Amino acid sequence: MKAKNLIDLDDFTTEELDDIVSLAGDIIRNPKDYAEACKGKLLATVFYEPSTRTQMSFQTAMLRLGGTIIGIDNPAGSSITKGENLKDTIKIIGGYADIIVMRTALEGAAKAASIYSKCPIINAGDGGHLHPTQTLTDVTTLSFELGRLDNMTIGLCGDLKYGRTVHSLVKCLVKYKNNKFVFISTPELTIPDYIKQILDEYGCEYSFVDNLNDAIPELDVLYMTRIQRERFESQEAYEKQKGIFVLDTQKLQNAKADLKILHPLPRVDEITDEVDYDPRAIYFKQAEYGMYARMALIMKMLENDSDFVPQRVYSNSELKCKNPKCVTASEPYLATLVKENGGKAVCEYCDKVID
Ligand code: NCD
Repeated sequence: MKAKNLIDLDDFTTEELDDIVSLAGDIIRNPKDYAEACKGKLLATVFYEPSTRTQMSFQTAMLRLGGTIIGIDNPAGSSITKGENLKDTIKIIGGYADIIVMRTALEGAAKAASIYSKCPIINAGDGGHLHPTQTLTDVTTLSFELGRLDNMTIGLCGDLKYGRTVHSLVKCLVKYKNNKFVFISTPELTIPDYIKQILDEYGCEYSFVDNLNDAIPELDVLYMTRIQRERFESQEAYEKQKGIFVLDTQKLQNAKADLKILHPLPRVDEITDEVDYDPRAIYFKQAEYGMYARMALIMKMLENDSDFVPQRVYSNSELKCKNPKCVTASEPYLATLVKENGGKAVCEYCDKVID
């Protein structure tokens, strides 16, 4: 692996991504061969937002590779409540562990952490921004269950605005040939502008629809998502959006026989329980693939066992990101990092346009 960290799947080439998927396949077939692959290595999970699958699958993955784990899963139990900043927390944990998996509500937090960490950082979700290891899970699932990552018509349904799994998945699948995207949501919860820009850059075909029934017949993959209640400004705004798109067995009558239904989980009410019995519903299997994909990821990332010495990073712009959810809003010591995207200045941490 060339990259030290996994902040965004763009950190890996498609060849590296394919290698991880194929290693995951080998681990599935021959788990005993990998039982000591990470013996003597220690993984830290630093989770400041709720998690079942992501955190436990990383922990299980490391234990199944013969490594050990430490972690924080509640900010109230850590020195964050004493006022310690992200930089100091990460400097400390980076000195204890060989690899850190982190999740926070702040957009760009994993990138910020990677500036200060001696050991690799894996982004396990940074607010409503990105979730690259869920995408690794999703592409591993599609590779083994559908047999391809190209020539797909993919419907993404639900909260496409705050759903970080959607953003990472689209950013990844645009790179494979002839993928077509159908975005099924209310206008309020459609994909962010920067994702549209990426679709345009890759020349992908995409459409926006507000009716799941109409979209279903042409889909090869249906990626359902939960409305992200915790990211709304008010309970009222959330109430207006919930319960609009619900997948049930009736809607599936018009779907292809080999449709694959994915969901990063947790599910709230967007897929009825009866759908679980349809063989096209593979979201529970998907969560299992996630563990194997993460085993492969940990192995690959620990391959470059070189000691990394963090270098001081300086601001490259006078501009200031105005996104209140950006990590720079609450961690003021961070260098301002701005890149250009489509002629606009964009924050390198959270990807929001600075105007
Ligand atoms: C997702 C997440 O945390 O973004 N869950 C997960 O990691 N499998 C999706 C969600 O919370 O809705």
